[in-house]
Amino acid sequence: MALLTIEGLTTGYGEMEVLRSVSLHVEQGEIVSIIGPNGAGKSTAMKAAFGLLKPWQGSVRFGEREIGGLAADKIVRLGMCYVPQTDNVFPSLTVEENLEMGAFVLDGAIGPRKERVYALFPRLAERRRQRAGKMSGGERQMVAMGRALMLDPKLLLLDEPSAGLAPLLVDMIFERIRDINDSGVSVLMVEQNAKKSLELAHRAFVLVNGENRMDGTGAALLADPEVGRLFLGG
Ligand SMILES: Nc1ncnc2c1ncn2[C@@H]1O[C@H](COP(=O)(O)OP(=O)(O)O)[C@@H](O)[C@H]1O
Ligand SMILES: [Mg+2]
Repeated sequence: MALLTIEGLTTGYGEMEVLRSVSLHVEQGEIVSIIGPNGAGKSTAMKAAFGLLKPWQGSVRFGEREIGGLAADKIVRLGMCYVPQTDNVFPSLTVEENLEMGAFVLDGAIGPRKERVYALFPRLAERRRQRAGKMSGGERQMVAMGRALMLDPKLLLLDEPSAGLAPLLVDMIFERIRDINDSGVSVLMVEQNAKKSLELAHRAFVLVNGENRMDGTGAALLADPEVGRLFLGG
């Protein structure tokens, strides 16, 4: 069953139309990647999925339910969490406080959820008293992902989780995304790193100029000459 369905979505900022009749979907259990050039509308699509932009036309559904423009706390309660591209941690709070802030809209014990995040990211357990603002880019990205996982999502939206990271850290973040997915969380991610994200993703959508350009399995897109030309330097 489709967890997230975006269908014929047109939206933008103020008067400026950015997405034109974009469609994409994430099935239960999948990692789906959105790739495309800078300014293609990838982040806009993520924001629209999370209710931050209202559809001008078309729809955003979570399961059967229409969620276009719904308030973030309601979307979170339905089981979707969003890690923005930038400014995704509270820099003056410690790692532990960031995780606790992540959980505040949910009822129930946060201890076990915190332990799950620390098991996934042992580095965060070691540094739980450290302020997030003092940490490296890779560690901050772990804090941001951990904070979203504190909400126990069914679907995690990640906007460029590996941006600006050194190659070893990029690999580490991709492995953790695989682990998160193995634990039963579906993932919709935007990535600069087209090759790695196509290797990781079950399926992917290529956006160009605010429109769907191609989609398919990660493997099929990796082998596609147009994708090679556009993104893989081939
Ligand atoms: N908050 C905003 N207000 C106005 N225009 C925006 C805003 N965010 C993005 N845009 C514009 O929308 C277009 C798509 O941006 P974005 O979705 O961030 O692209 P991508 O993530 O693919 O690089 C760009 O032309 C960008 O300048
Ligand atoms: Mg972006």
